[in-house]
Amino acid sequence: MMGVIGGSGLSRLSSLKIDEQIQLDTPFGEPSAPLFRGWIDKKPLIFLPRHGEYHTIPPHLINYRANLWAMHHLGVRQVLAVAAVGGINPELAPGSLAVPDQIIDYTWGRESSIYTAHFSADKHIDFTHPYDAVLRGRLLTTAQTSQIKLVDGGAYAVTQGPRLETAAEIKRLARDGADMVGMTAMPEAAIARELEMAYVTLAIVANHAAGLSDKLITVAEIQQTTTDAMTQVYRVIQGLLTG
Ligand code: HPA
Repeated sequence: MMGVIGGSGLSRLSSLKIDEQIQLDTPFGEPSAPLFRGWIDKKPLIFLPRHGEYHTIPPHLINYRANLWAMHHLGVRQVLAVAAVGGINPELAPGSLAVPDQIIDYTWGRESSIYTAHFSADKHIDFTHPYDAVLRGRLLTTAQTSQIKLVDGGAYAVTQGPRLETAAEIKRLARDGADMVGMTAMPEAAIARELEMAYVTLAIVANHAAGLSDKLITVAEIQQTTTDAMTQVYRVIQGLLTG
């Protein structure tokens, strides 16, 4: 079954016919919200808003382990993570959508593994390609069919937040090879891999990253851009489910 983790601007999936809200406790504590079980075009789906139902949980305090454990527990094996990012690569202007193929992790102090006790050497996951190639391919094909433009590939730099970056930090990320910057892909992607779930990010470029335009970055701008992109995001999700 497919699970969707909604980011900023996607606290609700309006086309989802919800038949159950599932409040789960996990070995890692509570997920960000109840999990919504429902249907789009007769296909089952689990939806979870990453920042909570009312966007009250900042990126560094999200219980990533509980979120993914809960989804896995309900039978989710493919995760589509929707996330707002800042664009670093000039190809990634505000309003564009991208499917990154790499991650650079700058986060710190987050619970980043399901293994606290009972670790063994075979539990070191291979993370050469952090995103699932098959699910990425399906996402790109679906979008092409629906004539929605998705940028194929790019490195997603994950910062600690919740503050945005300095101009110098963005210059450094660009030198490191990052194409976009966000705050939530890690440890989400790694924990999904530990749980053997296929994971892919649909990134909504909400703004030019810090220092790359004359304007300051406002939350209003980020919200407006993500809201504007939602119709396309819904269509991609629908296509992925029914395709
Ligand atoms: N930086 C980090 N995270 C973000 C940004 C950004 O510029 N925009 C949306 N999420």
